[in-house]
Amino acid sequence: MSDVQEDRLLSGRTVLVAGASGGIGEGTTLALLRQGATVVATGRSEERLAGLADYVKEAGSGTLITRIVNVGDADSEKVRAQLSPYGALDGAVVSIGDWGSPERTGILDISDREWEEMIASNLTSHFHALRALTPLLSREGALVHLSGFSADIPYPFAALVGATNAAKKSLVRSLDAELNGAGPRVYELIIGPIRTRPRAAIGADNPGWLSAEDLGRHAGRLIARSGPYADAPLQYLITRAHGVRTTPPQ
Ligand SMILES: NC(=O)c1ccc[n+]([C@@H]2O[C@H](COP(=O)([O-])OP(=O)(O)OC[C@H]3O[C@@H](n4cnc5c(N)ncnc54)[C@H](OP(=O)(O)O)[C@@H]3O)[C@@H](O)[C@H]2O)c1
Repeated sequence: MSDVQEDRLLSGRTVLVAGASGGIGEGTTLALLRQGATVVATGRSEERLAGLADYVKEAGSGTLITRIVNVGDADSEKVRAQLSPYGALDGAVVSIGDWGSPERTGILDISDREWEEMIASNLTSHFHALRALTPLLSREGALVHLSGFSADIPYPFAALVGATNAAKKSLVRSLDAELNGAGPRVYELIIGPIRTRPRAAIGADNPGWLSAEDLGRHAGRLIARSGPYADAPLQYLITRAHGVRTTPPQ
C-alpha cells in the first residue's frame, strides 16, 4: 500500500484506543492518527492523557479526542454512556493491562493476594472492557485485543501474567465465535515484546522487536478491513522476523 493510501486509510472513521496512555497505546494512537482516524483515546489519568496529547501533537491528518474513562469499570452502562457522544465506533483497540510486580515469583510462592490482584487488573478489567465496548461498535466495525505470547507458552516465574493472557485469549476467541459474523469483527493479536517508550526508558529495547506504531498500523489495517490478514481472527505478531502469522511460530 502506498503512503498516500495509508494516510487516508481511516479518514472519516472513529477508533477508540483503550489504554492510550500506555506504551503500546500511545504508539497505536500515533499510527491511527497518521492513518487519518478520529481517535478517542481513553485512560484513567488526566495527566497521562495530557502527556499522550503532547506526544502525538504533530501526527498526521487525524483528530485526537482524549477522554477519562475507565473501560475496566464493572459498570458497563456508565462506560457506554461516557462514550456515547462518539456514535457507533468503527474500531476499538484494547491495550490495557498490568504486569503486576516486576519481581519474579514461582507459582508455589504466589500469595492469594497477588493472585486476586492480577486476576482483577489483568483479566476482570478486560472482561469488563469487552462487555462495555463491543456494543459500541458498528456492525461493520472491528475490535482489536492484545494478549502476550505467554497465552500460548510457559512463562516461568511470571505464571500469573501467563495465566491471565491465556484466559484473555480464550475470552476474545469465544466472543468472536459467539458473534459468529453477526456483530463487529473481533481480532485477538498475540504479541511478543514490543518496542515502546516506557520499555526503552528502562533499557528494554531491541530493533528485532515490532514497535508500538507497527502494531497500531496493523490494527488500523484490520479495522479498515484491508490487507491479507483482515479475515484472520487470531494472529501472532511475535518479532519483526516472524512477521504476521495465524499460527504460533515455533
Ligand atoms: N509492551 C510489551 O512488550 C507487551 C508485550 C506483551 C503483552 N503486552 C500487553 O499489552 C498491553 C499494553 O501494554 P503496554 O506495554 O502498553 O503497557 P502499559 O504501558 O503499562 O500501558 C497499559 C495501560 O493500560 C491502562 N490500564 C492498566 N490497568 C488497567 C485497568 N485495570 N483498567 C483500565 N486500564 C488499565 C493504563 O492506563 P491508565 O493507568 O493511564 O488508565 C496503562 O496506560 C498490556 O496488557 C500488556 O500486558 C505488552
